[in-house]
Amino acid sequence: MEQFFASCPRGLESVLAEELASLGARQISPAEGGVGFAGELETAYRANLWSRVASRILWKVTSGRYRGEDDLYRAIRAIEWRDYFHVSRTIRVNVSAVQSPLKSLEFVALRTKDAVCDRFRDTDGRRPSVDTARPDVRLHVFLTAADYTVYLDTSGEALFKRGYRRDGGEAPLRENLAAGILLLSGWKPDQALLDPMCGSGTFLIEAAHIALGIAPGIRREFGFQKLESFDAKLWRQVRERSGSPAVASPLIFGSDVNRSSVESARRNVREAEVEHEITLAQGDVLSIAPPAPAGVLVANPAYGVRLDDQERIARFYPTLGDALKQHFAGWRACIFTADLRLPKLIGLKPAKRTPLYNGALECRLYVFELVRGTMRREKDRGSKAEGRE
Ligand SMILES: C[S@@+](CC[C@H](N)C(=O)[O-])C[C@H]1O[C@@H](n2cnc3c(N)ncnc32)[C@H](O)[C@@H]1O
Repeated sequence: MEQFFASCPRGLESVLAEELASLGARQISPAEGGVGFAGELETAYRANLWSRVASRILWKVTSGRYRGEDDLYRAIRAIEWRDYFHVSRTIRVNVSAVQSPLKSLEFVALRTKDAVCDRFRDTDGRRPSVDTARPDVRLHVFLTAADYTVYLDTSGEALFKRGYRRDGGEAPLRENLAAGILLLSGWKPDQALLDPMCGSGTFLIEAAHIALGIAPGIRREFGFQKLESFDAKLWRQVRERSGSPAVASPLIFGSDVNRSSVESARRNVREAEVEHEITLAQGDVLSIAPPAPAGVLVANPAYGVRLDDQERIARFYPTLGDALKQHFAGWRACIFTADLRLPKLIGLKPAKRTPLYNGALECRLYVFELVRGTMRREKDRGSKAEGRE
């Protein structure tokens, strides 16, 4: 059995753990920023192809204790690297650390590369070249205060690069973060889904792929294909075991106030081959009518960095809250933002708030249940209050 670590956006570890369990992973242990698991190489192939939430699947080569760079150099040089990849492959080394006493992670990367190359010189008489932009093989070194772990990256390009996004639009979400938010939202593929601020369409495409049982990695290649252990027959079998659609025709709707965003969503939706599952339109979230009597609304409004943007957004939230109350009774609204003022300004009490990270940025997923009766009572209270004034 091999040991792996699947990295993911912070806050999605429990969703990823569930996903990995459903893919046959064993000894699942969530940690900060990812989930450790055990399995055969086939498990790693499956996780790369099917995980909607993981950023990378790393395969553990070695681990131990260290005090300085020399300990790392010796341990990494002791590995028979030619068993893992051919000397003609290009390489890149990444280092990350939590509380490591070592001063320069760049120096650790350099020593790791030297150790691998020196080993290859011993065994093959030549060394692999470095390619930082498009390496064939990526090595990851992870350091804690006293321990190191060396991994080979079985993913290659990060898994959120699904290969369908042609058009970015304004601040698009990473695909695995969008998928994780959908999984946290409680949306079921037989319910209507609406993103009324859809931008480049990330939520919509991820939702359509979930509903249709399409593997997120079906259009791309992976790092494990360049390793010596690559088993092409096994990989073909893993790919052939396709998913089954959860529903025949999902109800997925997207709109955006900006015409060029709708156009970019349309291009991406076409590229992802889900144009028959998604209905797109131009419209303002403040005035659109719900496309179904009930469902899940998911959105990630822009959050301002500059002060004038923040002020504009602070004026927008109360109007968004009013629109949700007036038009979307019966829906659940899931709003993802870095703006922690949102619940107060939107005037609704979140049923749930989940801390999530978008890169280093701390965000929240706020879930609002727009319960029909409550909304009516609030409206009544509102009109009575207005009547009194
Ligand atoms: C941060 S982007 C959303 C990005 C999207 N989740 C993606 O992955 O591409 C916010 C979007 O909200 C849209 N927007 C802003 N105000 C809006 C409004 N009043 N009604 C509808 N859309 C609006 C913007 O045009 C922009 O595309």
